[in-house]
This record gives sequence, C-alpha cells and structure tokens, in this order.
Amino acid sequence: MLECYFLTNLILAHMQKNYLIIGGSTGIGLAIVKRLVEQGHNVFVLSRTKGQLEDHPLITHVAADVLQESLPVDHLPDTLHGLAYCPGSIVLKPFRALKTTQFLEDFEINLLGAVKAIQAVLKKLQQADQSSILLFSTVAVGKGMPFHASIAAAKGAVEGLTRSLAAELAPGIRVNCIAPSLTDTPLAGKLLSSAEKKEAAGARFPLKRVGEPQDVANLATYLLGEESSWMSGQVIGLDGGQSTLAS
Ligand SMILES: NC(=O)c1ccc[n+]([C@@H]2O[C@H](COP(=O)([O-])OP(=O)(O)OC[C@H]3O[C@@H](n4cnc5c(N)ncnc54)[C@H](OP(=O)(O)O)[C@@H]3O)[C@@H](O)[C@H]2O)c1
Repeated sequence: MLECYFLTNLILAHMQKNYLIIGGSTGIGLAIVKRLVEQGHNVFVLSRTKGQLEDHPLITHVAADVLQESLPVDHLPDTLHGLAYCPGSIVLKPFRALKTTQFLEDFEINLLGAVKAIQAVLKKLQQADQSSILLFSTVAVGKGMPFHASIAAAKGAVEGLTRSLAAELAPGIRVNCIAPSLTDTPLAGKLLSSAEKKEAAGARFPLKRVGEPQDVANLATYLLGEESSWMSGQVIGLDGGQSTLAS
C-alpha cells in the first residue's frame, strides 16, 4: 500500500511541469493559470500586481514590469516547460488620430515585451526535453478592421516573430500564437462595460457571443502541453467564426 502511494507520487512529480505565465493576474492569462493549476502544474506568474490571482500552493507570483526592468529570473526554476506572454493593448482610433508614439507603445508592450521575456528565459526552456512558447495576436491582423492600424501592426510583428522563432528553436522549443477576437477581460472592459454592450457585440459574431477567457485558456493549455507536440509556427484564429464566416 505504502509502495503504491510512493509510486503514485513519483509518477505525479514526473508529470508535473513548470510554466511561466507573463500577465497571468487577470483576463486570459489568469484563466490559463487556473487551468494549469487544475492539471497539477507549478505556475509562476509575472505581472506588476497580483490582480485577481488567488493564493495557492502551486502558484508563485513574481512582481515585475516587463517593460521597466530586467526580468527577475532568479525567482524561477532552472527548467521551464512553457511560457505564455499575455500583456497586450487595445487602442482603437482613426488612423488620422494615431500618433507615432501610440504605434511605439503598442509595439513595445506587444512585441518587445515578448522578445525580452523569451530572451530572459530561453536557457530555462532549453533545459526541458520539450517546451512551448505561446504568444497572442488579434483577429485584426488576418482581417482588416477600421481603427485597428496600430494594434494590427504590432500584432502582425508578433505573428512574424512566432513563425521565425518556431523555425529557429525547433525541435526542442515549439512556438505558436493565438489570434483572438473580442474576449471579456479587463483589457476589453470599455467595449463590454454593460450587459447590453456585451450582447450587442456578441450579436455581430457568427457564433453569436463574444469570447470568454476560458475559451482561450482551453486552446492555450493545449498549445502549452504535450498534446500539441507536433505543432509549431501556427497562428490560430479563435474568434467566434469572425475571421472566416459571413455573419
Ligand atoms: N481581450 C480581448 O478582447 C483580446 C482580443 C484580441 C487579442 N487579445 C490579446 O490577448 C492577450 C491577453 O489579453 P487580456 O484581454 O487577457 O489582457 P488583460 O486582461 O489586460 O491582462 C493582461 C495581463 O498582463 C499584465 N501586464 C500588463 N502590462 C504588463 C507589464 N508591463 N508588465 C507585466 N505584466 C503586465 C497584467 O497584469 P498587471 O496589470 O498586474 O501588470 C495582466 O495580468 C493580449 O496580448 C491581448 O492583446 C485580447
């Protein structure tokens, strides 16, 4: 009986992996953290605040701003099996009102933050037999949408980074990207601030609702885990049918 107990613990410890979720304190990142913890993994969350993150023995919060400081990698384990970079932005303005500083800000948080994060933990990802990087784009890269010039340009760069790194880091590290449409998170708060706004926004989708963080976390945990071990360099639309179906 005792042997069986130790054997079970040994198998569980072997299956337990270490994940770093940058921006795991709210929204999509938080939903990914919850799903990974349900699966029994160790999750390190890096964000400026704890946000809605609850205390849990499998969760370690590392307070840092990806743009301001070098990442505090000493707080992380030697081996990482996965990294998701979730910080992003939604600034929708007519092109004539977009200053170049806005383009720079969007580029910084969406692309350069991801570059900085990946470079900081690359050795730790290489320590694992197989590891996975997950980045976020937007539906507005593959489908032209008015007022999205700045964010679409920045996320277009993220899609380029995804494919380029996937080629360079194969076969040990896989790199994939999710391109969501409107999802109910604090980032989209202004667009979905009432039940009426959320319903009206949802009605514009072929699948008749906006996304929920859990929708994205389902795909994200698949891409971070071994089940997707033959998949790299992909940008996957998760958008209620918006990018490909007529409404
Ligand atoms: N929600 C949508 O409708 C939507 C649509 C298309 C694409 N996306 C993309 O999906 C991804 C996730 O979006 P989301 O809606 O879940 O965003 P969110 O709710 O705003 O969450 C962003 C997370 O990133 C952290 N963060 C932001 N700036 C940071 C910084 N400088 N340093 C460290 N951490 C930082 C935030 O925590 P702190 O504030 O505590 O630092 C938070 O944990 C983004 O890349 C976004 O562009 C979202």
